[in-house]
Amino acid sequence: MKSEILAALRSADGYVSGQELCEKFGVSRTAVWKAINQLKQAGYEIEAVQNKGYHIVSSPDILSKTELESNRKTAWVGEEIYYFDSTDSTNTRAKRLAEDGSVHGTLVVADEQTGGRGRRGRAWESQKGVSIYMSLVLKPEIDPNNASMLTLITAMAVAGGIEKTTGLECKIKWPNDIVVHGKKVCGILTEMSTQMDYINYIVIGIGINVQNESFPEEIREVATSLRIESGKKQKRAAIIEAVWEEFEKYYDIYLKTEDMQGLVGEYDQKLANMNKQVRVLDPKDPYEGTARGITPKGELIVDTWEARKLVSSGEVS
Ligand code: BTN
Repeated sequence: MKSEILAALRSADGYVSGQELCEKFGVSRTAVWKAINQLKQAGYEIEAVQNKGYHIVSSPDILSKTELESNRKTAWVGEEIYYFDSTDSTNTRAKRLAEDGSVHGTLVVADEQTGGRGRRGRAWESQKGVSIYMSLVLKPEIDPNNASMLTLITAMAVAGGIEKTTGLECKIKWPNDIVVHGKKVCGILTEMSTQMDYINYIVIGIGINVQNESFPEEIREVATSLRIESGKKQKRAAIIEAVWEEFEKYYDIYLKTEDMQGLVGEYDQKLANMNKQVRVLDPKDPYEGTARGITPKGELIVDTWEARKLVSSGEVS
C-alpha cells in the first residue's frame, strides 16, 4: 500500500486528503496515517496540513521496493521486483531466481553489491547507496543465436533512459558500454543458460555510476558518474524506471525480426566510435580500422586498409 500512496502523492498537483486515500485504497484512516509515517521515516518529506491533507515536498534518492513500485509504469518489466539493501551480485541472484522458476520480466535491484561482477571475470565496484545495480530475468522464445543482440538493445535503453532523466547525451561504445563525454558510466553483463535450440533464461545485469563524486586514480581517466557529468545529484529510481520503459520499446522492435534490422539507424547514431579509428582487440590478431556502424545482426562493421571486417564479439578500444 505504501507504494500506491506514494504514487498518489506524486501524481497529485496539490494536497491529497486522508479521506481520499482511504477511499481510493479501501483502508482506514489509521492505516493511511501509519503508511505516511513509515514513508517519512524512510526519508520522504511529507507535509500534513489540517483540512487539506498530505503533500509530498521532496523525495531523496531512496532505493526500496516501495520506491521502485511507486515509480513503475512498464508493462511487464518489474512485474516481480526483488529489492536487497545488500547482496553478493544481482546477476547471481537473478540467475538463482530464474532457475527457481521466476517469470520473464523479474527485476532484481540492490543498494549494494558485495561481489559485483564485470565482464571478463573482472570485479565491479559496487558501493552502498551510490549507484544502480540491477538485473533482469528474461525467458524469451527466440533462437539462442539471436540472444546476444539483447545486450545491444539494453545499451540503447540505458542511453535513452539516462538522456530522458538527466538530459546528458549518452553514446554507446560497441557493443554495450555507455559513455558520457567520452567516459564510461555504465557496464552491462549478460549471462545466459541455453540448450541447443532453447533458452532457459537470460540475465541482463546493468551497473550505472550515479552519485559517485570521484573515482580511484587507476580508472579516473576512463570512468565517470552522472553526478560528475551533470553537476547534480540524480534519483536512481527515476533512472531505473526510464531505462526499463525504453527497454520495452526497443525489445518490441527487436522481437519483430529477432534482430537489429529496425534499430540499426538509431544504434549507429549513438555509436561513439562511428566513422572513427578503432582497435579490435582480437586475441589472436588485433587490428585497426574505421568503424562504420552495425549490421542487422549486431556485428560492428570495421573497414581496414585491406578489407571490410565484421566483428561479432570481443573488445574494441
Ligand atoms: C562491465 O564489465 O562493463 C559490466 C559490468 C556489469 C555490472 C552489473 S552491476 C549489476 C549486475 N550484477 C553484477 O554482478 N554485475 C552487473
